[in-house]
Amino acid sequence: MLYAFELSGEHEELPAAEVLACLKTEGLEFRSHVRVDQCLVVDIAGREEEIERSLTVIISERLAMTHHILKVVGTVENSPEAVLGLAEAFPPAGYIREGESFLVRAKRVKHHVDLPCEYLEEKIGGCIYRKGFRANLKSPDVEFRLILSEKAIFGTLLSSVDRGAYEARTPQNKPFFHPGVLMPRVARALTNLSGIKPGELFLDPFSGTAGILVEAGLVGARVIGIDAQEKLVLGAHMNLEAYELDYLLMVGDACRIPLKSSTIDAVVTDPPYGRSAAILGGSFEELYSSALLEIQRVLKPGGIAVVVSDKASFEYGEKAGLKVLETYVQRVHRSLTRIITVFQKKD
Ligand SMILES: C[S@@+](CC[C@H](N)C(=O)[O-])C[C@H]1O[C@@H](n2cnc3c(N)ncnc32)[C@H](O)[C@@H]1O
Repeated sequence: MLYAFELSGEHEELPAAEVLACLKTEGLEFRSHVRVDQCLVVDIAGREEEIERSLTVIISERLAMTHHILKVVGTVENSPEAVLGLAEAFPPAGYIREGESFLVRAKRVKHHVDLPCEYLEEKIGGCIYRKGFRANLKSPDVEFRLILSEKAIFGTLLSSVDRGAYEARTPQNKPFFHPGVLMPRVARALTNLSGIKPGELFLDPFSGTAGILVEAGLVGARVIGIDAQEKLVLGAHMNLEAYELDYLLMVGDACRIPLKSSTIDAVVTDPPYGRSAAILGGSFEELYSSALLEIQRVLKPGGIAVVVSDKASFEYGEKAGLKVLETYVQRVHRSLTRIITVFQKKD
């Protein structure tokens, strides 16, 4: 069965990578079907009811860089003839039940096509009306969505991601604020890339105000944070308490992590950038090489570490014995580019 993820445009690759990581973490059997600008269609094997429960109850709650999840009716060329042909021909069973009302919304992604959305919404609405269903613009039972990107993707809305919840957790809204924190949506997407599952142990050895730990705690992980500055550890306590999370915090040095080897399921961290790297650990090189050695030591075999930096950290990770799985470059503003590296501890 095909499902589509309407992706945010905040990064070219991260939103799709986040979806694929979540499907894998959830144990779903899937393969990519179509990938176009701001939309990913995947083919998921298994019982429809179970897949849709995972998508609506678990995955939609975890995702940060997706807007909506759709059950796909079909993907066609983005011409009016192809779209209307699909709308006319599709059998409604499985998408809308007898007696249910509907609404059609079309969304154009950037300028991939110049098709008039309102015209298509009306025409598609006509096709569905002729199948015996009535439109209801105010409170429809089913919302049909047409995504016009490099291809046209047509389906019904299964679930929407509550992106407002991430805005509500913006660093300035938390009890303790200190500058230099990742935005919650980015912290959540990185947490998802780490593949952490509820109940597992998650570590941020440069935890600062706990921005990453809050996101990992909210997906159900038991989180551990270490930071060199006591005042930030105290602030992190306040932030984690505000969300009633299961956590452990320590004042310490990421270059000497006070944890046993092979005990941590996943790590996500953003070590200090630039000159502040000298807080503990001497030079940037010393800090990175020692911290990555420690991260590789405490991770369980096969465990994932996601490291964010303004410099490439992959060589330090590789020297520490970690395998580089992926890297992403994120331009934050003119003078800050983040490099996100996903490592895995070898089995
Ligand atoms: C970019 S900030 C992390 C921000 C954090 N993600 C947050 O949500 O606030 C880097 C943090 O590393 C800490 N730090 C610097 N050197 C350290 C070391 N050797 N061991 C542990 N923490 C260190 C700093 O105190 C700072 O809080």
